[in-house]
Amino acid sequence: MKVDLVLKNLRAYVDGDLLDCCIAIENGKIFKVGREAQMPSADMVIDLNGLIVLPGLIDAHVHLRDEGKSYKEDFYSGTAAAAAGGITTVIDMPNNQPVTMSAETLRKRMQVAERRALVNVGFYSEFPRKLSEIDEIILEGAIGFKLFMNTQMGGLNVDDDYAVIEAFRHVASKVPIAVHAEDKQIIAAIEGSLKGQGRCDLEAFIQAHPEEAEIKAVKRIIAIAKETGSHLHLCHVSTGATIELISEARSRGQKISCEVTPHHILLSVEDLRRIGSFAVTLPPLRDKCHILLLWKGIREGIVDIIASDHAPHTLMEKQSSNIWYVKAGIPGLETMLPLMLTEVNNGRLSIRELVKLMAENPAKIFGLRSIGYIREGMNADLVVVDLKSEGKIDSSKFKSKARFSPFDGWEVKGKPVKTFVSGKLVMDNGEIVAEAGCGRIIRKRRLE
Ligand code: DOR
Ligand code: ZN
Ligand code: ZN
Repeated sequence: MKVDLVLKNLRAYVDGDLLDCCIAIENGKIFKVGREAQMPSADMVIDLNGLIVLPGLIDAHVHLRDEGKSYKEDFYSGTAAAAAGGITTVIDMPNNQPVTMSAETLRKRMQVAERRALVNVGFYSEFPRKLSEIDEIILEGAIGFKLFMNTQMGGLNVDDDYAVIEAFRHVASKVPIAVHAEDKQIIAAIEGSLKGQGRCDLEAFIQAHPEEAEIKAVKRIIAIAKETGSHLHLCHVSTGATIELISEARSRGQKISCEVTPHHILLSVEDLRRIGSFAVTLPPLRDKCHILLLWKGIREGIVDIIASDHAPHTLMEKQSSNIWYVKAGIPGLETMLPLMLTEVNNGRLSIRELVKLMAENPAKIFGLRSIGYIREGMNADLVVVDLKSEGKIDSSKFKSKARFSPFDGWEVKGKPVKTFVSGKLVMDNGEIVAEAGCGRIIRKRRLE
């Protein structure tokens, strides 16, 4: 038998360890992991010179925009950024134009993505107006629902406990419900008063998004998830108190998962004050003490996922002398893996933790059964990393349309050098070498 591709002379992350081996790939899947002598003949052989091969990363929190917001990012530029960053699957957020909040908007989005995506894309949906549409959205293949508690986004009134309970009860544990937990009323009250005083500076933005806004929302949504038996996924946890609340809820038997972003575990509010609006994101960067508590949460296994919350905006949208006009969000697809590999080199994270947090756990939590592991029969989504390569983060080289980063100029050690999606080489040494459309659309209840 002859397979499509054999990768040889590599160290692959298999069952918790780095294994000197070769990988044979046939028809987009991992056909065999073994010694060179065990490899079938192949149409193509790539010698990786001893580099490390990890399962392609799964980024559970990405805003790919496109459609009405394609001036910020589109499926091609966003998934090119993902491939450049060693990420082979992204889950797309629904705050688009139109908002993804019906079977129809979701189907349309999938159609657009199918033609343009370089990596696999799954989709979150916002809650629809009518409960009956929840089932249609799930049938269409949404990976999960997303609820913004800080702003009115979809068809569900976030201020109405009764309505939120009904909607959560309807989803039950069919798919996870991802939540941006910041209390809308706390934010609105402080923001209103600051605006009334004519404040429009960075300090005012920081004041308008206090830790209490996150903590209050987290408490409320954990209680609702408990009452309704939902699988709650808390996005971008930014405070130590949230980690505690998650840990307590879990010990009571609640099904609850969470993620942190690279910016919340590497940057503090001091960095925000120094960098200014390029570091403006929601929830905001916090006091230094939280960074330590989030890392503690990672070490103790309370944090399940590291996700980028890639939130692209134009340079113009990021720069205004009036802070209320500055769009919150940081592009993260191209910096996440180099930053985390640097932490591996610094000894703050192990390869094992990295793979768990950025591939295995997202696959498990979102029920993506054919990805996240290097194993025979799994999808051949792989990232080749060079742990020794040193460089500087340079946002002017991003494939994303959002060419800015609060990490600009950071020295990093470790980077992705090749990305394979379904056995196809998509990124080679920083260049995109595949055609648009080679990513798969991941439909929860159909393909996976
Ligand atoms: O900083 C953020 N940007 N937080 C969000 O919740 C939304 C996101 C965006 O879409 O730009
Ligand atoms: Zn958010
Ligand atoms: Zn987000």
